Amino acid sequence: MKELIKLVDEHLDEYLQITYPEDIFKAMKYTLMLPGKRLRPVMCLETARILGADIEKAMPAACAIEMLHVQSLIHDDLPCMDNDDFRRGKPSNHKVFGEANAVLAGDALLTFAPQVIIEKSKDLSLTQIVRILHEYTKFGGAYGLIAGQVVDIESEGGKLVKSPEETLDFIHLNKTAVLFRLAVRIGAIVAGAEEETIEKFDDFAKKFGLAFQIYDDIMDEISSFEELGKTVGKDKNSGKLTYVSLYGLDEAKNKFNYLLKECYDIIGKYESKVFEEILDNLKARVAG
Ligand code: IPE
Ligand code: IPE
Ligand code: MG
Ligand code: MG
Ligand code: MG
Repeated sequence: MKELIKLVDEHLDEYLQITYPEDIFKAMKYTLMLPGKRLRPVMCLETARILGADIEKAMPAACAIEMLHVQSLIHDDLPCMDNDDFRRGKPSNHKVFGEANAVLAGDALLTFAPQVIIEKSKDLSLTQIVRILHEYTKFGGAYGLIAGQVVDIESEGGKLVKSPEETLDFIHLNKTAVLFRLAVRIGAIVAGAEEETIEKFDDFAKKFGLAFQIYDDIMDEISSFEELGKTVGKDKNSGKLTYVSLYGLDEAKNKFNYLLKECYDIIGKYESKVFEEILDNLKARVAG
């Protein structure tokens, strides 16, 4: 896991070269290079590896997914969204570079990511590249991540179109699970996997993504700034619809443990140390 994170960091640094006008590249690079957990790119690379591909083949796409994720974090922290002053242990992007550059840095990461896939991918067929770009645009846009963020923000006012249970599932699946799905799907596509295998990994990532957002909701309630590197207690203060606010802390932990067990069951047969480490870490954090 450590080695994969190091490789991702090195490639992110290499792909994103700073040039004129430096302000935008510095803003893009600031949040991107802060120490995130790198779960999505690592899961993309590891999926490619266990399905038989050389991880270098998946590297540009894995880094592109991290760029898309970082864009979502920069915009998520803006005053018009969650209004968070800290991210990855440091002041949020807009706190350092101002709101205009934070918006532009997010936009720039969103468009630079597919540029990297096109320019840097090696040994992939055109069909694979087009499919990867299609998945990127589908999961990253209004039919995916953005839909989740919209409903998340709307839920603060308590104005729900669907039941709270359905709304919460929609938010978690879209704002969070889609990027894990994108990561493993692309890893499998790079490896030339059968559709059935792609769907198996997709199912794993859907469950993992739900568990991950429940973990994030739980941490907002019980963790600390020192551990998370972001402000805690914000969800409750802003009246967010979260697993904890709807079902309570104990039920949230039960659901998290249930989903995690399903994840172990699906991924177990691949005997992946990396996936095991990811699941073990998350489990340990929630257990306290
Ligand atoms: C934060 O994701 C956003 C959520 C989906 C909860 P991560 O917890 O993976 O953030 P980083 O990448 O480690 O900063
Ligand atoms: C995570 O939602 C989803 C995205 C950032 C797209 P949160 O708003 O809960 O994430 P954090 O807690 O700020 O990292
Ligand atoms: Mg948010
Ligand atoms: Mg937030
Ligand atoms: Mg959160």
